[in-house]
Amino acid sequence: MATMATTVHLLIVLHSLVAAAVAQPPVARPGCRGTCGDITVPYPFGIGAGCYRDDDIPGFQLECDDSGPSPPRLTVFGYRLAALSMEDGEITTYLSARRSCYNSMGGFVDGNGGSTTDMNLSGTAHLFSSTENQLVALGCPTLGYFVDEYGFYVSGCVSVCQQSSEHTFSCTGVGCCQSAIPSEVNFFYPQQSNNPNPNNSVAFTNDTTPCHYVFLVETQWFDSESVYLNDRNDDFEVPVVLDWAVRNVDNCSTASQMADFACRSVQSECLDVVNGPGYRCYCSAGYEGNPYLDNGCIDIDECQVEDTCYGDCANTPGNYTCQCPPEKSGDPTVKDGCKPKDKFTSTLRVVTGVGVGVILLGSMCCGTCLALQKSNLIRTKKKFFEHNGGVILQQQMRSYSSSSSTARGATTGGFKIFSAQDLNKATNNFAADRILGRGGHGIVYKGVLPDSSVVAIKKSKMMEEAETKEFTREMLILSQINHRNIVKLLGCCLEVEVPMLVYEYVSNGTLHHYIHGGKGLDAHTSLDTRLRIGAESAEALAYMHTSASPPILHGDIKTANILLDGNLTAKVTDFGASKLAPNDEAEVIATLVQGTCGYLDPEYLMTCKLTDKSDVYSFGVVVLELLTRKKVLSFDGPEQNRSLVSRFVMAMKAGRHDELMDDKVRSEMGPEALEEVTHLLMRCVSMNGEERPGMKEVAERLQGLRRYQRLPWGQASGRDSEQEEEENKRLLGTRRQGDVDYKFKPRDVLHIEGASAYTYSS
Ligand SMILES: *[C@@H]1O[C@H](CO)[C@@H](O)[C@H](O)[C@H]1NC(C)=O
Ligand SMILES: *[C@@H]1O[C@H](CO)[C@@H](O)[C@H](O)[C@H]1NC(C)=O
Ligand SMILES: *[C@@H]1O[C@H](CO)[C@@H](O)[C@H](O)[C@H]1NC(C)=O
Ligand SMILES: *[C@@H]1O[C@H](CO)[C@@H](O)[C@H](O)[C@H]1NC(C)=O
Ligand SMILES: *[C@@H]1O[C@H](CO)[C@@H](O)[C@H](O)[C@H]1NC(C)=O
Ligand SMILES: *[C@@H]1O[C@H](CO)[C@@H](O)[C@H](O)[C@H]1NC(C)=O
Ligand SMILES: *[C@@H]1O[C@H](CO)[C@@H](O)[C@H](O)[C@H]1NC(C)=O
Ligand SMILES: *[C@@H]1O[C@H](CO)[C@@H](O)[C@H](O)[C@H]1NC(C)=O
Repeated sequence: MATMATTVHLLIVLHSLVAAAVAQPPVARPGCRGTCGDITVPYPFGIGAGCYRDDDIPGFQLECDDSGPSPPRLTVFGYRLAALSMEDGEITTYLSARRSCYNSMGGFVDGNGGSTTDMNLSGTAHLFSSTENQLVALGCPTLGYFVDEYGFYVSGCVSVCQQSSEHTFSCTGVGCCQSAIPSEVNFFYPQQSNNPNPNNSVAFTNDTTPCHYVFLVETQWFDSESVYLNDRNDDFEVPVVLDWAVRNVDNCSTASQMADFACRSVQSECLDVVNGPGYRCYCSAGYEGNPYLDNGCIDIDECQVEDTCYGDCANTPGNYTCQCPPEKSGDPTVKDGCKPKDKFTSTLRVVTGVGVGVILLGSMCCGTCLALQKSNLIRTKKKFFEHNGGVILQQQMRSYSSSSSTARGATTGGFKIFSAQDLNKATNNFAADRILGRGGHGIVYKGVLPDSSVVAIKKSKMMEEAETKEFTREMLILSQINHRNIVKLLGCCLEVEVPMLVYEYVSNGTLHHYIHGGKGLDAHTSLDTRLRIGAESAEALAYMHTSASPPILHGDIKTANILLDGNLTAKVTDFGASKLAPNDEAEVIATLVQGTCGYLDPEYLMTCKLTDKSDVYSFGVVVLELLTRKKVLSFDGPEQNRSLVSRFVMAMKAGRHDELMDDKVRSEMGPEALEEVTHLLMRCVSMNGEERPGMKEVAERLQGLRRYQRLPWGQASGRDSEQEEEENKRLLGTRRQGDVDYKFKPRDVLHIEGASAYTYSS
């Protein structure tokens, strides 16, 4: 797994190198290090002597430790840094939560093991951000608060216990509480008082938690990650946001008189900060770079910025000019905003002011003009239609089905070519309230066709000309596919610049939303439902891998690309990202790596060759997500725990993989089934594609597990081994062919191959 992390890391570094090569605003002082790992370190921050601002107010000197495990560790005052922003004037550091654990009698058991839970920023360039942080007390009953440098109370809150803990976790005073903090806080020393009401009633203390925590935390992070902090009893770190500024003087007007004024670049501006004394610098409008360095702000060449100007563009210092070409007029800042100067329209304007007789003439003119505009529109539509491979598609459709030969509106095997007008009408002109979702590849709208059937319409992003031919080829194949677990492609529209696709509408959203969306899948969703969703998706992929030659690969399997209908039947979608397996070298090289972090096959990252086994890897991650109900990437805890796959592999090595599973899964799954599914997952996420099973085998094994779980011996709970023996004998004695459920012994159903060993790299 480390290999994968390194590869991803390398890609990110490569990417930022490429980005840096395009525009080169300076970052650090000349001769100083500008990055540590993937964090950019811009001056006034710096690593090493002479590289940071030194004005007797410490806080800009950072340390970068390359000697440990990758990525290197960037610290300020010994606290690890997670991010550094020039724009917002913020740095994010990690701080350990203060922990105290108690036994059932209320006696103290243990607390933090050696980690620092307080932070003294007095006299530094930093203050705790009052807008981005909050104080949180976890566990109950507890009063969590913090004091300032002199021991005075600053902010705190009380968390009480309630009998029923069935509620979904929310930090509102029961089991967890939060409190805002004032501005200008420079000292944080967390405290706890664990029995705020010694003579309390049961209402406050029933169902106490063993461990209590107090910590200051980035609000946004806490809002999304707090569920992972529930019921913990170990130490953890949380991100805290600090506001930095140049604080050796109070404000810009004083600072600009001083020799050590920090805003060094000519094209820079100074702004007073709101939290505490001090100021920060910014490049003036039209410039970018580092305002704290001599000549640090450089002119932005707006003409190179996409979507800025579609006419004749000229860059000027700090600005640019943008005009329509001489023979055209209109708005050059929008696409196709420059229109040929229209003689008819101007004639019309002159004409309409004059007498009745002329109005007649005018209306004649108008007719001509409308007709002309209309033919213009038709021409444009026709151009797009041809450009987008409409003609090829029509030809191929004709050869597929000789029955229909009329061009547009023709249907083939249910596949229809829609006009732009049809789709405008269906989506109420692509109204914002019709948006079903946005993805990397485009926006999906809900549409209602004239026959009142509901469809999903995907408007894709720009497409390269060379891709359109492949696109039509793919579309043709997809239109032929009819599988209950694949979202059906109903048609397309080619008259617009980028083709739109019309899909069957699937009512209950994505699997991702179902798993992580709050409602839907929860700790109570049965194992069978999860296995069924997994098995159905696997069948869809197996079908796509085997039904065409060359196989149709998906290339971006993730829970967000699996939809659920009203009966929770899984339907795989977005084969738009898929490529027919490339078979020559030129194609392989031309292929950009696509996909989603956390699901990407590490081997694909290295070879750029998408194979059916890449889908198997991604699918393994999906099943893991279904069974653990954890996000594939989590930013809580140490680096190596970020990816769900590596957590799983590590836990597996330590023999503790069952702890990762969701409660319901753990309680319903017996040891054999757990062993089987673990074995299957380990093979799916193997680093080596050849060791991964085929999609068909994955589907079969998941179905096998479902059958096994339905048998009385499949259940983990309420098992009696003697009774089980009896049952086995009885069933085996009266084994009937054709009765699927009772055809197998447990071992047969699972069919664990003792010989094949897991492979995982570390
Ligand atoms: C906090 O830091 C300041 C400046 O270094 C120091 O003067 C002060 O004594 C420290 N406070 C505590 C409580 O350690
Ligand atoms: C606790 O409450 C009981 C009755 O509710 C009362 O008799 C007792 O004095 C209280 N103890 C304290 C310490 O307040
Ligand atoms: C907590 O509530 C349960 C259920 O009402 C009760 O049985 C138990 O005795 C209570 N525990 C305490 C410490 O009061
Ligand atoms: C800037 O700070 C100085 C004291 O350092 C103060 O006298 C002056 O009024 C401040 N100016 C503004 C505009 O706040
Ligand atoms: C750039 O020029 C336009 C008009 O020429 C003006 O409206 C705009 O404010 C200028 N922008 C800057 C940053 O000077
Ligand atoms: C599907 O969604 C509808 C509406 O959101 C909801 O009422 C229904 O319970 C969902 N079905 C399932 C099986 O979750
Ligand atoms: C759900 O299942 C029922 C019964 O099998 C079927 O009639 C219905 O059409 C299904 N609904 C969907 C949305 O597939
Ligand atoms: C990281 O993952 C391993 C394996 O699951 C686990 O033992 C360890 O406690 C995790 N650490 C944290 C801080 O979550």
